[in-house]
Amino acid sequence: PESLLEERFEATIARKDRIEPRDWMPEAYRRTLVRQVAQHAHSEIIGMQPEGAWIGRAPSLRRKAILLAKVQDEAGHGLYLYSAAETLGVSRDELTELLISGRQKYSSIFNYPTLSYADVGTIGWLVDGAAICNQVPLCRTSFGPYGRAMIRICKEESFHQRQGYELLLTMMRGTAEQRAMVQESVDRFWWPSLMMFGPPDDASPNTARSMAWGVKTHTNDELRQRFVDMTVPQADALGVTLPDPDLAWNEERGSYDFGQPDWDELWAVVAGDGPCNAQRVAHRTRAWSEGAWVREAALAYAARESAGHEA
Ligand code: ACO
Repeated sequence: PESLLEERFEATIARKDRIEPRDWMPEAYRRTLVRQVAQHAHSEIIGMQPEGAWIGRAPSLRRKAILLAKVQDEAGHGLYLYSAAETLGVSRDELTELLISGRQKYSSIFNYPTLSYADVGTIGWLVDGAAICNQVPLCRTSFGPYGRAMIRICKEESFHQRQGYELLLTMMRGTAEQRAMVQESVDRFWWPSLMMFGPPDDASPNTARSMAWGVKTHTNDELRQRFVDMTVPQADALGVTLPDPDLAWNEERGSYDFGQPDWDELWAVVAGDGPCNAQRVAHRTRAWSEGAWVREAALAYAARESAGHEA
């Protein structure tokens, strides 16, 4: 009976054990996971674009090799995550169709342009730094395949963050012009990075349910605070100023106070009105349709092989 299965599911969650694909799960739990894991996968794949745009313009062979490796890692992250989503009974084709038709989301951050090479460093430092803060707790998420994918992804993300920080450190030791490029880039990416954590807790419709199910283990505001606390000392070491006049150490809380991002901007970007939304989705759509022959050929080959084995 369903009630017995439900009891078993609730007990697994209460023990902080994993739910596996073949276990019974409430339909709403499955839907929440498909939504979050698919959005996460789409973010990795769309996230290849802003940085990929700089591969041909990297300033040295070394920088080019690092950036190529990093962008390839993002493709790999997308693939692990689509595989995790597939264990919930949805296919990658379906999910990609939902992405390109605008029915599924991807992270707001990738709708901002990359205007200089310093942005490659800033994305590594701030964007991948925010991703790590959000994703390390997800290693303990209640759905097994998602949590296990996160473990490997987090290891690679921490390399991404270091390469970004090292790039910025190198530029900060360079000319006044290079230092100004870093500061300008940090000014543009600071607030959008804070928005990556999602709306404030009191405006987040999914947090309570997702926490009760162990899908999320921290709220959006908790993780945003953790990110600010981690990043301010790094900004000091780098010698850049974070563009927030309200940023100040709060002795009592043992944390930094900080200003609020422009939440209207987040909702506009999420709704499709960010600076690069149309371009990002058009690019993905083009890659998907231009790749159709590869998928068809692979399927035809697989069909021929299995027919051969049967004969
Ligand atoms: N960009 C786009 N959409 C967002 C963002 C954002 N930064 N923040 C919130 N949203 C969306 C949510 O997806 C949700 O929409 P939906 O109900 O249609 O799915 C809505 O805004 C309300 O937000 P919440 O109720 O707070 O949603 P949720 O509980 O899912 O929390 C969060 C959002 C924190 C992003 C969560 O889904 C999460 O942790 N996801 C996994 C991490 C991830 O996707 N990272 C991708 C970027 S990192 C990288 O790729 C380098």
